[in-house]
Amino acid sequence: MTGRIIGLGAYIPKKVVTNDDFAKFLDTSDEWITERTGIKERHIADHITEKPSTMAVEAAKKAVGDAGIDPKDIDLIVTASTTSDTVIPALSCIVQRELGVSEECGCFDVVCACPGFIVAYNTVQGFIESGNSKLALVIGTECNSNFANYNDRGTCILFGDGAGAAVLKAEDIKRNEFIMRSSGYRSGCLKCEAARQPDRWEEEGFKEATSFYMMGREVFKFAVTEVPQIIKDLASKYSFDLENDVDYFILHQANARIIEATAKKLGIPRDRFPMNISKYGNVSSASIPLLLTEMKQDGRLKPGMKLVLASFGAGLTWDANYIVY
Ligand code: UT7
Repeated sequence: MTGRIIGLGAYIPKKVVTNDDFAKFLDTSDEWITERTGIKERHIADHITEKPSTMAVEAAKKAVGDAGIDPKDIDLIVTASTTSDTVIPALSCIVQRELGVSEECGCFDVVCACPGFIVAYNTVQGFIESGNSKLALVIGTECNSNFANYNDRGTCILFGDGAGAAVLKAEDIKRNEFIMRSSGYRSGCLKCEAARQPDRWEEEGFKEATSFYMMGREVFKFAVTEVPQIIKDLASKYSFDLENDVDYFILHQANARIIEATAKKLGIPRDRFPMNISKYGNVSSASIPLLLTEMKQDGRLKPGMKLVLASFGAGLTWDANYIVY
């Protein structure tokens, strides 16, 4: 048994912050950000009605509506978030409560930065394959703006907020192959110390340490090296042809240049790598379900299509999946 995606949904905060908005308080420009990243604008949560928990609930409701299922039948919820507004309970428990899912449902979260959605997706597939779930909800939700350092022009301009969700239904067919890789040895490239330690708040440098710190160029090099490689390895491990057996390559939306470089290294036309980064920036674990939701809504995504999903981020971690949609 493997889970098939039968419903998709997303929530995007209402407030839009453009590159020109950043240029009002940072030494940057629309031209620089567009050229180096492909980002034109991003949505930023209001932090009152829009938090990782509330955005996860809204995205989940839409995915459940899209799937046309009764939320009471969901037996597993796994939410990926690195910017959760709660330490406990798990965001998945909040989603369970708000959707009226029964207490027969297992709920837990995963923390794995940008690849979080893929990690949650593969975890759920493990439950489905072992017969322990028949109808599951997988969510990625992030409020990156809570952790962005708005004095650091090399990092803060990249991130946006949002959530995306998918409903997976067990079917008697093989639909998911994957490779997951990590390198804690390179963790210094992209990090954020635990926030909310009031006793350390006045310590020199602590406020900065509780924001995202990124060695952009190093992370860029990592991404354009490892992402094409893991996709090639996936194709070789599971004996499929990248040119002929894949409809779309759904990559984590971190930087348009990373996606373009990956397409070039794989020798696959750029139009098979859909992008929405110009509108949302990097929404971390929400980026892949958000893109899938848009593609379903505009008719690009059709049942039976074969997709490569790939993500990368802090850890460092990077993953790639070959799925039948
Ligand atoms: O999902 C998490 C994974 N994260 C990523 O995928 C991020 C990967 N890295 C990147 O996307 C790129 O490295 C950045 C977009 C972050 C930076 O682009 P870059 O082409 O690698 O620029 P750089 O860091 O090499 O900096 C080049 C110059 C520097 O100035 P100097 O030292 O040459 O005078 C920076 O200070 O660009 C400067 N710079 C900026 N200038 C205007 C950095 N950020 C900005 C900015 N506006 N926002």
